[in-house]
Amino acid sequence: MRLPAGLGVLCLALCCLGGARELWSGDHEWKKLIMVHHWPMTVCNEVANNCEHPPDYWTIHGLWPDKSGECNRSWPFNPDEIKGLLPDMRLYWPDVLHSSPNHSVHFWRHEWEKHGTCAAQLDALNSQRKYFGKTLDLYKELALNSTLQKLGIKPSISYYQISDIKHALVGVYGVVPKVQCLPPKSGEKVQTLGQIELCLTRDLQLQDCPEPGEPAPQRREAGPGGTPILGLEICEDGPVFYPPPKETNH
Ligand SMILES: *[C@@H]1O[C@H](CO)[C@@H](O)[C@H](O)[C@H]1NC(C)=O
Ligand SMILES: *[C@@H]1O[C@H](CO)[C@@H](O)[C@H](O)[C@H]1NC(C)=O
Ligand SMILES: *[C@@H]1O[C@H](CO)[C@@H](O)[C@H](O)[C@H]1NC(C)=O
Repeated sequence: MRLPAGLGVLCLALCCLGGARELWSGDHEWKKLIMVHHWPMTVCNEVANNCEHPPDYWTIHGLWPDKSGECNRSWPFNPDEIKGLLPDMRLYWPDVLHSSPNHSVHFWRHEWEKHGTCAAQLDALNSQRKYFGKTLDLYKELALNSTLQKLGIKPSISYYQISDIKHALVGVYGVVPKVQCLPPKSGEKVQTLGQIELCLTRDLQLQDCPEPGEPAPQRREAGPGGTPILGLEICEDGPVFYPPPKETNH
């Protein structure tokens, strides 16, 4: 879409502030899908909340078109449409911050309204059944949790190097992922592994995610249940903590 000259000038002025693309994406154009996995232990650490018994495997945060959001406010989330997917949804796409299953419905609503209504531009994703179902399929095909495990990258009290994790993932998937961390809090020495994104073309083929150093548009993405998560950043090169699940008595 070409901007009228006046808007172009205004854009030039605003572009420097960043986020200009978002300002002008009135037609909700997007180029790439981001399959976002998060590590529940880190999510729980990030947001003080009632995280009881978080899963001890990587779960889905969402399937996000880049550079767009809330594309169709007249297409409300309808849990009835994904009834058949609920067992898998609860397992692989839970609201890890809240153990009550009802909370996950709020989380899914948020993901649908913000991201799904934009992803629905693709025939492969143009219903709630297809959007959530395809995301679950991708999660299973990509099998990030077991891939990491097979690569010997397991939660541990000793640290990994970010570059080792990235290289190992590039070796398996053949594309550059985006790896996000919680920066060290005061008193902590190292960053904590939090989120791994794999990017897809509009044909749902894997492609490289942006290189580190590019601004991360989804940095201020709301977390499960719409809780704002401000902490995740692209990981710095260097050591990283991949936190093991907390010991529980049950
Ligand atoms: C996920 O990975 C963790 C850590 O490597 C492992 O303990 C767990 O069994 C895996 N879970 C699934 C469902 O693959
Ligand atoms: C928004 O969603 C509604 C309900 O599915 C649909 O009827 C309408 O055509 C959509 N609007 C756009 C612009 O896609
Ligand atoms: C969860 O949702 C169901 C169905 O909407 C409702 O019957 C139940 O009371 C809710 N539970 C809680 C703890 O809110």
